[in-house]
Amino acid sequence: MCGIVGYTGNANAAEILVNGLKNLEYRGYDSAGIAVLNENKLNSYKSKGSLDMLEDKLANNGKIVAGTGIGHTRWATHGVPSDFNSHPHSDCNGKITIVHNGIIENYQVLKKELLTKGHKFDSSTDSEVVVHLLEDLYEGDMVQALIEVDKLIEGSYAIVAISEDEPETIYGLKKDSPLVAGIGREENYLASDIPALLSKTKDFYIFEDDEIAKVNREKIEFYGLNGKLLEKDVFEADWDADMVDKKGYDHFMLKEINEQPDVARRIMADRFTETDIDLGDIEEILAGDYKKIMITACGTAYHSGVIGRFLIEEFADIPVDVEVASELRYKKNFIDKNTLMVVVSQSGETADTLAALRLAKKQGAKVVALTNVIGSSVDREADSSFQLMAGPEISVASTKAYVAMVLVFYLLALKLGNLNNNISKARLKELIAGLKRLPYRIQETISEFDEISKEIAESIKDYKSVFFIGRNIDYALALEGALKLKEISYIHAEAHPAGELKHGSLALIEDGVPVFAITTRENVAMKTLSNIEEVMARGGQVNLITAKNIEYDKIEVDNKLILPEMDNIWSSVLAAIPLQLISYYTALELERNIDKPRNLAKSVTVE
Ligand code: G6P
Repeated sequence: MCGIVGYTGNANAAEILVNGLKNLEYRGYDSAGIAVLNENKLNSYKSKGSLDMLEDKLANNGKIVAGTGIGHTRWATHGVPSDFNSHPHSDCNGKITIVHNGIIENYQVLKKELLTKGHKFDSSTDSEVVVHLLEDLYEGDMVQALIEVDKLIEGSYAIVAISEDEPETIYGLKKDSPLVAGIGREENYLASDIPALLSKTKDFYIFEDDEIAKVNREKIEFYGLNGKLLEKDVFEADWDADMVDKKGYDHFMLKEINEQPDVARRIMADRFTETDIDLGDIEEILAGDYKKIMITACGTAYHSGVIGRFLIEEFADIPVDVEVASELRYKKNFIDKNTLMVVVSQSGETADTLAALRLAKKQGAKVVALTNVIGSSVDREADSSFQLMAGPEISVASTKAYVAMVLVFYLLALKLGNLNNNISKARLKELIAGLKRLPYRIQETISEFDEISKEIAESIKDYKSVFFIGRNIDYALALEGALKLKEISYIHAEAHPAGELKHGSLALIEDGVPVFAITTRENVAMKTLSNIEEVMARGGQVNLITAKNIEYDKIEVDNKLILPEMDNIWSSVLAAIPLQLISYYTALELERNIDKPRNLAKSVTVE
């Protein structure tokens, strides 16, 4: 979703802004722009489309000399992608300009008032009201003006502003949308996300809601809404800039698929004794006496939660609900102090997930977060967090963060099972030994299925619809398989509990229609095999992903992907990998924009 970078220093601001925004391209955007202060004059350059198009525009304007500026990549919410809706937006006199991430929910009321006062609007965005409000409220003190703006606007926002009155200063304000200040040497930065600045600094201040920063070359000052200076701790980021490189892979997605064995190793390092698992800080919360567990998340993270539910119920014998975070607030939820809430978010900034977290806390639940970004809102607001340690995930389609989430759910389920005395020591010992082997099996699965995934991709690429079926935990995998395929190949893909196919979608199965069937669990595999027969009887093309110990030889299908041998408990981790590879190669065949699929964003910071 939208990205922000701000800079003040002695270097070429335009270049720094565009490069910083390039590091945020993965978040998804449809237009971009920068504004720089050149000899105390504000100049804006904006372009619909990619940053390359903005760069062309900048090049056509000759050398832009400026040491201070702000930049933005926009993912359209209010108003179509266009030059005039792109940020930055300026006030009526072109003296103040701002960029904004998030949504100003009461912008219509504010805009009406501002229009009555004679303000002229150039765009159809919600964001533009912010700069006109600043114009109205600014009386020589931008911090004060931002405090007043903060009181008037509703919604979620990260705002960065500059003004001709202070040509070497950038200002930031945020609520419910991330913003960080990067600490440099005789230069400083603001950005919506740490990866934008990793090549420049590892030291950051993280904004809390309703904090305002005044940033110039020498120092960064934070103010509260009462106008008083705040003390802030420096946060040191542990990601390297080269972790955000493709490292020779054609796409981040493929690189991230191949990083999964290492991610698994990192998650499990130093966690095990022979018969116990050390989950660090979250253990104190896990040890509480809960009547139920609720898992909430969005997208791929939600799918990991569906797996989590099966695992926790199976190993720990505790009832688990799993809810899509964007729905949770709009139903009766039965969350109370006897609920353990598990919130899952790779970015830690997904607006709906954050709202669900806050609701759960308000209703008295204890909240454990699984997140990949230390210092993110979800990480900070949960009672305790478990780091996914997947490293920066750039591809919009999540792969390594998903596998990390699934693995952490295994650890959680086994830990809870152990705390509940629901797993015998001998079984736990076996399971821990399996977990330790898993990184090697993940590696094997990636290598073994690369070729066949290409062949399957070739065979499905021209179909309009693809179906994914499975039962129990295999259904959770089917959900993720379908999401992965549709988001990057744009082929319509649907997942069904295998038994449900005949209640509707079977009507769509005809000659050649691809169906992926997943059978990793013995207790339901035979039932799914019957559903596969139903598909084959209608001419469907069946691709079976199955665990080694299942009696798959009972059935002749178009393609059989037999996962490396290990306790079938782990096959749910392994089965995700061919699904990722097949989606990747299908999108490659179709020449899609794999890392940045159309209309989608990596971090969804609006509801
Ligand atoms: C977006 C991304 C997905 C992701 C989902 C939840 O839709 O494109 O890849 O699964 O958001 O994101 P989160 O950061 O909360 O895990």
